[in-house]
Amino acid sequence: MAFKVKNICCIGAGYVGGPTMSVMADHCPEIQVNVVDINHQRINSWNDPDLRNLPIYEPGLNEIVKRCRGKNLHFSTEVERNIAQADIVFISVNTPTKTKGFGAGQASDLKWVETSARKVAKYARGHTIVVEKSTLPVRTAEVIKEILISAKPSSDQSEPSTFDILSNPEFMAEGSAVKDLEKPDRILIGGENHDAINTLSEIYKYWVPEKKILHTNIWSSELAKLTANAFLAQRISSINSISALCEATGGDVREVSRAIGSDSRIGSRFLDSGPGFGGSCFKKDILNLVYLSRYFGLPEVADFWEGVVHLNNWHQHRVSQLIIKKLFGTLSGKKIGVLGFAFKANTNDTRESAAIQICKDLLEEGARLFIHDPKVNPLNISNDLGISPINKVLESNNSLTFQSDGSWSKASQISEATKEADAILVLTEWEEYSKINWEKESKQMRYPAWVFDSRSILDAKRVINSGLNFWRIGDGTNL
Ligand code: UDX
Ligand code: UDX
Repeated sequence: MAFKVKNICCIGAGYVGGPTMSVMADHCPEIQVNVVDINHQRINSWNDPDLRNLPIYEPGLNEIVKRCRGKNLHFSTEVERNIAQADIVFISVNTPTKTKGFGAGQASDLKWVETSARKVAKYARGHTIVVEKSTLPVRTAEVIKEILISAKPSSDQSEPSTFDILSNPEFMAEGSAVKDLEKPDRILIGGENHDAINTLSEIYKYWVPEKKILHTNIWSSELAKLTANAFLAQRISSINSISALCEATGGDVREVSRAIGSDSRIGSRFLDSGPGFGGSCFKKDILNLVYLSRYFGLPEVADFWEGVVHLNNWHQHRVSQLIIKKLFGTLSGKKIGVLGFAFKANTNDTRESAAIQICKDLLEEGARLFIHDPKVNPLNISNDLGISPINKVLESNNSLTFQSDGSWSKASQISEATKEADAILVLTEWEEYSKINWEKESKQMRYPAWVFDSRSILDAKRVINSGLNFWRIGDGTNL
């Protein structure tokens, strides 16, 4: 039997916890939803009175937060109190790849999950359903369970607390998080106890049709999340590998994608060749799968999936190398306008963005980069590139210069990136880039000038007719 949930706590107010809980609160007005985080600054941003500085940019999110915040959606740093009140606790903390120790570079670092589980064990009262929302290595539920059942009742408790553990991975993608959460393809709930599964299902049923709510055992659910991300990433590496072949043979990867995508067995989505996949999940989750496969004595399975990440790394370097080649083998003293730094459009997130590796390669060759992105905070770019921006110098003849080779500066306007640039490189598919007036921008570039379109979003004819050299991903047709 499902029980009626009145209070939810979500630990982790990040890219997953924030939007997921906002949508949940919006659809379940009788449930109080408390999103807690140890990061005070992040919580302050979520509580920003005029909603201008929410920590996450997602289309449609501001409106939801505006509707629900202070009514049944609350952001706070009071972790203990909110755990104690909750019928359900979602764990939505980050699980980065381990950087040292056993499994470094591949295994997930579960220290935040463990800390969260320990807090739940200590502060939960009565019966609590604990839900893994973070993507976790298979069998993590076992770890959480062990921590929870070994919790000793504290002095104010007559009875020990009891727990159920469920896996409920999130499949939303950044940039379309609200849309994905509003109309998910499926909701996956893995667990052992049917009452707990039904209790969580009842919440989703407020807005998701019942037939889309899938129940599995807990291990299948954990593995399904890793597998979904691995399959999606594998499709991108597959099409990116074909883009290189198209460029070598005279093919056009867009035509190949269209041709294979109309086979209903293959399907048309996730076949856009680009600068290489980024985001916090794909690489981490595949490396996790690789680690698990090796751990369970399946080296061939590990090698198979590792190939997807290798191809992606190789592909990113391929893009930077061809730019260097087209610009006569040296970038010293050359200005390159970089359009887009986020790992995809409609997000301010730069984690694992292809832009990071590609820009690092270009900087190493001495390029002077002017980086434009409509949403990314320049501080993130500094952290990602490991160097601070250099202030632009406006010379007497009104031209912009940099002090040194291998440096970068923020371009607030697209025209600042194109001014006297030797090349423009599109790395994120922001819609505004597809509308650039090349007739105008080309006039202020330094010739021979190049436009490199790694996202295939520009109007090729318009760029070429403006007198610019043009390269786009996977196009071997010599336009
Ligand atoms: C998510 C998932 O949870 C992760 O498993 C997935 O694979 C990647 O994306 P995400 O929401 O993107 O994580 O991470 P992030 O934006 O870093 O947010 C996590 C939040 O948890 C941070 O705000 C951090 O401060 C908070 N946190 C971390 C806690 O509140 N308590 C902790 O003990 C640790
Ligand atoms: C992904 C999964 O899609 C989502 O289900 C999961 O919950 C989290 O990880 P996300 O990383 O937010 O979501 O974005 P996604 O749209 O999957 O894009 C990932 C990367 O692949 C981006 O860098 C994107 O530009 C790239 N991509 C995507 C392509 O290069 N080509 C495509 O056809 C699709």
